[in-house]
Amino acid sequence: MRASYQHMTPFLSIDEAATMLRIAEARGVFGTYADEALNEGLGEQLPQRFDAAFNYINHGIDGQGNNDELSVAAQRTNYFRETYAYGTDIQSPGIEPFFQHHELIEAAKRVTDCAVVEPAIVYANILTPGQELAIHTDVPEFRGADRKRLPQWLLVVMLHSGLFDAWRVPIATCVSWFGANPGGAFAFFPEGAQGPRERIDASHNSAILIDTDRVFHGVERVTPVGDELPYIDKGASLTYLGDGQWRLKNAAGDELADYNWQSLRYSISWKAYCFQSEQERALWASGTDDLTVDQILDTLEAECRRLGVLEGERPDPTGFAQLLVGTFIGFPRAVA
Ligand SMILES: [Fe+2]
Repeated sequence: MRASYQHMTPFLSIDEAATMLRIAEARGVFGTYADEALNEGLGEQLPQRFDAAFNYINHGIDGQGNNDELSVAAQRTNYFRETYAYGTDIQSPGIEPFFQHHELIEAAKRVTDCAVVEPAIVYANILTPGQELAIHTDVPEFRGADRKRLPQWLLVVMLHSGLFDAWRVPIATCVSWFGANPGGAFAFFPEGAQGPRERIDASHNSAILIDTDRVFHGVERVTPVGDELPYIDKGASLTYLGDGQWRLKNAAGDELADYNWQSLRYSISWKAYCFQSEQERALWASGTDDLTVDQILDTLEAECRRLGVLEGERPDPTGFAQLLVGTFIGFPRAVA
């Protein structure tokens, strides 16, 4: 996939953009994006995205450091997520035209250089004032290796190692923004981790189409940035009250804050599998060229030895996981 992107502003028609707000309102309740299940024997002591979490705790959103206590860092990044469509499962009626949007599919073909583009998922994120998203790359997929089978950090390691490119299933991502929070810009490194940091305002009815599996990106703090952050625990929720108003509650149901569309950052992510040809899609669907867990771990171990970062026995699962993330994922660093 080429390291390029397409910024679309305006993105949809005025009516289509308004529909995106109505779909969130019809959904009624947004829950937090809790950690997914852990994987036995593969660093199960570690969070699924400990790669991004550890970097965020040590370096913050801009690489300049992070002054938050650990618990505040967790609240800042404990945002709200609901899935609108996943494969043939339409979970939010009205999203269908967006899911199969012709111009979006054509843009994905251009950006990825792939002839076959198959929409896979649409989900929505809501961040409240004071929240932000750590710099990360998204979870990629390979033939035989996806988040149902492997921990997310390992899939991210596989992509950045470059050792499994022949099995990769490229995924195009379109992130679009609706609502009117003036903060929460999309920060990204389109020329790679060593390249300059760029930013795009999360303006209503605009979007970027980009390879978020390869390009490091995050979300700047949603305004007002100085407000004290309510305590957003894992069971917190955002409930639509009507008339453009949302209420934040914690897991116990206590009311923490009320927001309107001007104060929330609402984004919709569209992801599509991209294949060079129908034959490549058929190979993926057939499962005849799938990677195995042993093949993946042995390949990464051999590369660690070749690079001189591992001698002797393979470490325990947690130690091996930390070695792999530290060796292969090169996060962007602030330029002094
Ligand atoms: Fe992302």
